[in-house]
Amino acid sequence: MTTQGRPEIRSGCFITVEGIDGAGKSSHVDALAAWLREQGHDVVLTREPGGTPLAESLRALFLEREMDALTEALLVFAARRDHLCRLIEPALARGATVLCDRFTDATFAYQGGGRGFDLDVLGMLEGWVQQGRQPDLTLWFDLPADEAARRRAAARPADRLERETLAFFDRVRQGYARRCVGAPGRFARIDANQPRERVWTAVRQAVANCAAIASAVDAARAAGPSPVPPQA
Ligand SMILES: Nc1ncnc2c1ncn2[C@@H]1O[C@H](COP(=O)(O)OP(=O)(O)O)[C@@H](O)[C@H]1O
Ligand SMILES: [Mg+2]
Repeated sequence: MTTQGRPEIRSGCFITVEGIDGAGKSSHVDALAAWLREQGHDVVLTREPGGTPLAESLRALFLEREMDALTEALLVFAARRDHLCRLIEPALARGATVLCDRFTDATFAYQGGGRGFDLDVLGMLEGWVQQGRQPDLTLWFDLPADEAARRRAAARPADRLERETLAFFDRVRQGYARRCVGAPGRFARIDANQPRERVWTAVRQAVANCAAIASAVDAARAAGPSPVPPQA
């Protein structure tokens, strides 16, 4: 579609899902993607670290190898840069809705809160790598560390990060809380310490309340069907 002969600049919505391991993020992202598609969104579902072949390779290293906090931070921001350049920014530019299981708040929560790494350095890396890009909406699944540990233990073998102590996950949770206080406009705190159906209702409510998402749906309806086929 063009406006007075110029190509229309479209920008889709960027939604991130955050919270400590075991909080219930992955249990809801597929349903959320399906629900958004029903409303006309062209959804790209992705995750961090990862989302591109290079970033997925870095994810495998990140989750398996021992390394210090600076190496962790550089590795996740390197993966994020590739993810942004190759997948997230092109998808947003064509008007798609990007739904990402974890993003930069996780770096501030895990490396900043959990490891106690310098938040100013993380802020600098965030600026370089993202060039101002921030999510329109961040769904923070908030759950006490002990309940998250119980759910993880029942669900799966622990990876390198998931083997950390309750005190570590408590600091990570506090790290998320600080990010939430710092960006109240984009954060929606979801009380994840309740039955799954109630969490799902809270998720849909938070998405429905997000003005950026509502206006993207209106724009998509006005533009008609997308020329780009939906992602598998
Ligand atoms: N509201 C809930 N109540 C009880 N268990 C849950 C709830 N949500 C998710 N779970 C379970 O908790 C475990 C961890 O959930 P998962 O979605 O993998 O968390 P995350 O992706 O945040 O690490 C899974 O076994 C999942 O079935
Ligand atoms: Mg998960």
